[in-house]
Amino acid sequence: MRTLKRNQSKHSAPFYRPTWVEIHHGHLLENFRQISSLLSEKVSVLAVVKANAYGHGLVPVSQTLSHAGARFLGVTSLEESLELRRSGIKTPPLILGNIFPFSNLEQAIRNGVRLTVASLESARICHQFASKVGKKAYAHAKIDTGMNRIGVNVAHGLDLIRKIREYRNIHLEGVYTHFSGSAEDPKFTKFQIQTFTDLVKEIVRNGVQVPYVHCANSAALMKYPESRFSLVRPGISLYGYCPVSREKRIRLQEVLAWKSRIVFLKSVPANTPISYAGTFRTRRRSTIATAAFGYADGYRRSLSNKGQVLVRGKRVPVIGRVTMDMTMLDVTGLQEVNVGDEVVLIGKQGEENISAQEVAAWCQTSPYEIFCGIAARVPRIHVR
Ligand SMILES: Cc1ncc(COP(=O)(O)O)c(C=O)c1O
Repeated sequence: MRTLKRNQSKHSAPFYRPTWVEIHHGHLLENFRQISSLLSEKVSVLAVVKANAYGHGLVPVSQTLSHAGARFLGVTSLEESLELRRSGIKTPPLILGNIFPFSNLEQAIRNGVRLTVASLESARICHQFASKVGKKAYAHAKIDTGMNRIGVNVAHGLDLIRKIREYRNIHLEGVYTHFSGSAEDPKFTKFQIQTFTDLVKEIVRNGVQVPYVHCANSAALMKYPESRFSLVRPGISLYGYCPVSREKRIRLQEVLAWKSRIVFLKSVPANTPISYAGTFRTRRRSTIATAAFGYADGYRRSLSNKGQVLVRGKRVPVIGRVTMDMTMLDVTGLQEVNVGDEVVLIGKQGEENISAQEVAAWCQTSPYEIFCGIAARVPRIHVR
């Protein structure tokens, strides 16, 4: 039996329960470079680090992307913005949601956080707060071209731009829209690009200069060069997942590996029920491993009797129900197995690899949800 080492890293407290995520900053940096290689020099990158950098760890990921040359960091909230500011990262955060409650504006403006202005009313209130704080607010006007989440309808886009320009205390730094299906709906994406392009032309015709015009997420920047304008907003591709199946020009690498260890082993006869409700019964004498991960770590219960993990470089099935903190694996076929052996949930082991995409397919969701669903209690170990 191998001894379980007390795990320690520079960026996190020591952890004792053997379930963790490794974040490979070399891959992150290389992904940033690969994506940038598709862009002309005039196009900057807003790295989307919202939702704790898609579960990868907001501050360490942002540090790497900021050093790599990201022009902005796309976040969800004032909390994330202030965390970035406190960490000393100079790259400004842009909150991609509309500001609410408006009382958040005071702190946001004080800290130079870039704001999404998604209505005439929010422009007016933003101006009021900026006047109160005595500092200019940096605004990115949000235009709705068909996502129907937030933003002024494109038909009123110019009105919003004009209004923002009237406010002395607001600096109009950007104008943007968001696609509803850039990875899967070319017709509608082209319609959104065209509608947005028409608005941008109208803005220019009206003599308004906007430094950053942006709409492209990962799929769009790869598939539609005309969507790149002066800034692109990749998220998932930075973390190594390519949402466009035929993108051959760049090679992305998964940044995150999710690991655990075997904490218990037993040999059981045929017809032994395993885990809650005995949804799995052994068909032969079997070696059953219990590993220290469960649905409270974000390993979905729907992976019960469906998922696979890697042990000793081989795929082994998840058997019985995934429980809150532990999951059983059938390791019967393996030549050798010990308590303490590493279990890979996402990532490489030996010649084998399990991608987030594969895990997502097993539970009929997307890699976005798998990454974001890894619980806060799972320590992130940053490998630089
Ligand atoms: C407004 C906005 N821009 C860009 C992105 C990045 O998208 P992706 O991760 O598909 O590159 C997101 C992600 O949800 C978003 O909400």
